[in-house]
Amino acid sequence: MLDVTAVRKDFPILSREVNGHPLAYLDTASSAQKPGAVIDAVTRAYTEEYANVHRGLHTLSAIATERYESVRGVIARFIGASSEEEIVFTGGATEGINLVAHSWAAPRLRLGDEIILSTMEHHANIVPWHFLRERQGAVLKWVPCDAEGWLDPQAVMDAVTPRTRLIAVTHMSNVVGTLTDVAAICRGARERGVPVLVDGAQGAVHAPVDVEEIGCDFYALTGHKLYGPSASGALYIRADRAREMRPWKGGGDMIRDVTLEEVSYAAPPLRFEAGTPAIVPQIGFGAALGYLMDIGMEAIRAHETRLRDHAADRLGRLEGLRIIGGLRGRGPLFAFTLERGPAPAALALALDAAGIAVRSGSFCSRPVNRQFGIEASCRASFGLYTATSEIDRLAEVIAESCEDFRQGRTAIAGGLM
Ligand code: ALA
Repeated sequence: MLDVTAVRKDFPILSREVNGHPLAYLDTASSAQKPGAVIDAVTRAYTEEYANVHRGLHTLSAIATERYESVRGVIARFIGASSEEEIVFTGGATEGINLVAHSWAAPRLRLGDEIILSTMEHHANIVPWHFLRERQGAVLKWVPCDAEGWLDPQAVMDAVTPRTRLIAVTHMSNVVGTLTDVAAICRGARERGVPVLVDGAQGAVHAPVDVEEIGCDFYALTGHKLYGPSASGALYIRADRAREMRPWKGGGDMIRDVTLEEVSYAAPPLRFEAGTPAIVPQIGFGAALGYLMDIGMEAIRAHETRLRDHAADRLGRLEGLRIIGGLRGRGPLFAFTLERGPAPAALALALDAAGIAVRSGSFCSRPVNRQFGIEASCRASFGLYTATSEIDRLAEVIAESCEDFRQGRTAIAGGLM
């Protein structure tokens, strides 16, 4: 069982105060805080081991290259990939999805070919496909989640036609919090010969991932939500797919040869990694994944399931609080609105004044907000360091803010979205 008191000591920022109160950081779905293991790895890389990678014979370049390249194996182990050659370093899930759109989908799409998406995708898994709709006449087919925020794998299969070229779905919604049964979608897709991209930006944070068990062709990760530095991340590309794909960015380090007349490309994964990469962020990402694997993703899932149940109980008792989506299949995040209470941004500011960090807005996921009939909500999201006492504080301050609102005691209560 995860010892949350011990885990919290690994995160220096959690001991600070905000606005005169102990920080309760309930915005982990937006970006997670960093443990000492990551901070130390980044500091060591810059203070003792920094140089460019893949490019020098000198000692520091060799050390930096070894440290950087070793992270591929760590990522492969974290997601159950059989080879580190299936791991492409990216700046995050957004870059990974754009890579698939440019490098795999764009060269294959003909006018009228279809891409299947769910309505609960983050804009990172919507906008790249709109580009292909605008530029190449691709047809985006939307499969709605149900009233609880659950995506039915059969509904995804029902949307497949002979024109379907790709299914791109989130592993876990960043608004309704539901975990998608991506393995069922991949089984059905494989029978129909359709590749699947899974956006794992949220899903990989909260439960063990095994890309081979899932059976996906592409799986996008982002480092900063996995307790690593921002600008780190990776895209898993199944080996046979990677070999079919052309590069999407051109530059140094991704070629076999360049002449004045032509260019030939390095094998994957370097083929997809033009230019000097995010060396130190990726080293920090490796340290973050090592830290998570030492604790164990099963232990993290069990802890976060307790947090989810605790929050469902505490928030569920607040009068007028509406949680977006249901509890079935939900991970540890809750987006909610208040009837007869402050608007989402006003509530987020009131919580901040009490040292509690949450996010408000539409979370880069406007279609699912529209489906649920809202413009904005407040979102509390938890991680491995979250304590149930922080959720209790959240519930108490929401209750106080609602009371202030009803008594007309706050100047900004109704004024902000
Ligand atoms: N995608 C991140 C979120 O949901 C930033 O907050």
